[in-house]
Amino acid sequence: MSEPGDHLSIVLLGASGHLARTKILPALFALYSQGFLPKHFRVVGFARTPLSDAEFRAITAENLTCRYMPEAASCEARMQEFLARCTYVSGQYDATADLKALAPLLKAAPDGTPENRVFYLAVPPHVFLPVTRALGEAGFANPSGEGAWTRVVIEKPFGHDRASSDLLTHEMGTVFKEEQIYRIDHYLGKEVIQNLLVLRFANLIFEPIWNRHYIKSVQITWKENVSIEGRGGYFDGAGIIRDVMQNHLLQILSLVAMEPPSRLNATHIRNAKVNALQCVPPPTLDDVVVGQYAATYRGGVHIPGYRDDPSVLPGSRTATYAAAALRVVNGRWEGVPFLLRAGKGLDGRSSEIRIQFRPAPGGVFPASDGTPNELVIRIQPDEAITFRIWSKVPGLGMDLELRELNLQYKTAFTQLIPEAYEDLLLDILRGEKSLFIREDELASAWDIFTPVLETIDAQSVIPEAYEFGTAGPAGADQLAARHGAAWHRE
Ligand code: BG6
Repeated sequence: MSEPGDHLSIVLLGASGHLARTKILPALFALYSQGFLPKHFRVVGFARTPLSDAEFRAITAENLTCRYMPEAASCEARMQEFLARCTYVSGQYDATADLKALAPLLKAAPDGTPENRVFYLAVPPHVFLPVTRALGEAGFANPSGEGAWTRVVIEKPFGHDRASSDLLTHEMGTVFKEEQIYRIDHYLGKEVIQNLLVLRFANLIFEPIWNRHYIKSVQITWKENVSIEGRGGYFDGAGIIRDVMQNHLLQILSLVAMEPPSRLNATHIRNAKVNALQCVPPPTLDDVVVGQYAATYRGGVHIPGYRDDPSVLPGSRTATYAAAALRVVNGRWEGVPFLLRAGKGLDGRSSEIRIQFRPAPGGVFPASDGTPNELVIRIQPDEAITFRIWSKVPGLGMDLELRELNLQYKTAFTQLIPEAYEDLLLDILRGEKSLFIREDELASAWDIFTPVLETIDAQSVIPEAYEFGTAGPAGADQLAARHGAAWHRE
């Protein structure tokens, strides 16, 4: 007799889409190839596009990699095994009858053992609710039998403001229980972000200085050097604050700013994050700058601007860049600006946190005046933690230079760095929720940005233009300067 833990069906709704093909299916294969998936495991793809099983397997195979199985022959064999477990059903997302067609595929094991199930909604956000309702009506909300579980996964964006997010939470809650719902912000699955808690709370040296007395400012930067590339259909209605800042950057902020969790479990970690978010007052327009990349000529070549993208509405005022100065009003952080910036079409691709310390007092080394120590936590690319310290330059004089204590993941660790989705998927299967967004956490994050988003919309704020491939609008520099800081420039 087998156990429910031996049986798992992953129903991937939106299986022919970009997210499923480029992230979820490869992450599942990565788990499979390392032996993390149960003996009786299968993927059932579901989407509108009509595809045969063979066609679905062919598009799935396109993005599978042998990262964890470098030996070509055994990897190929493992891929074939994995693909043989993938089947496909086409149908409308909101059609209960179409979803019911999954039932025969999801029937219990021959010995009657119920199976665990994951419904992964890799579908456009506007169909989250219709799909959820249809899943409920098709009878999939409850576990398939005693001892088994059913979980549902959705991925940001969760609504477009506090009210719509609340509605989504409430309506999903009428079909699935909160404990069944896994809300993904894939940044939480990234290796360096997961290391933040360790860095802060496993090393004695940081906690005593992790506060307003020693830290002058915190900068969180997210940038991409590509254009919107035809994704305007979603992005043009959202803009960078909803796309990146309200979720990825606030998650990072909460991990930097939070108090130590009383225990290392999902409840306490998320309690601590929610507490931190609730200490952040919503910024006004004075503390937010929005920008949009514009067309430019480089080397005689015309580089189109955001509005030139065919997927963007003509005359769009959607921000492709935003900078915000936030405060965390509590005993630890009062007076320390948290400067966030996020942009597309910039001069590089990276995400990083910069903790800038106050200058050393006393004036013993005037040469170091003004330039503080800095802890740089680089999320991507080239994951690293570096601490910039003043050091004496070797020689007979007393010259000082800023140098780095450097933890470069690539050289410091021999292990592969997992893709965020590998970690997240494994946690879903294990029922481990630390890396998923709880409903109150989501609401608190929306509370921070909803008022200014409403102001931007109501006043039709015109974003400041910046040339594609540059550092972003000048207004962001002025914003940082108003808070006594300057953005780091590569
Ligand atoms: C997504 C955003 O959440 O994150 C995209 O919607 C963005 O606009 C992407 O490009 C970036 O993810 P990553 O992991 O490549 O930094």
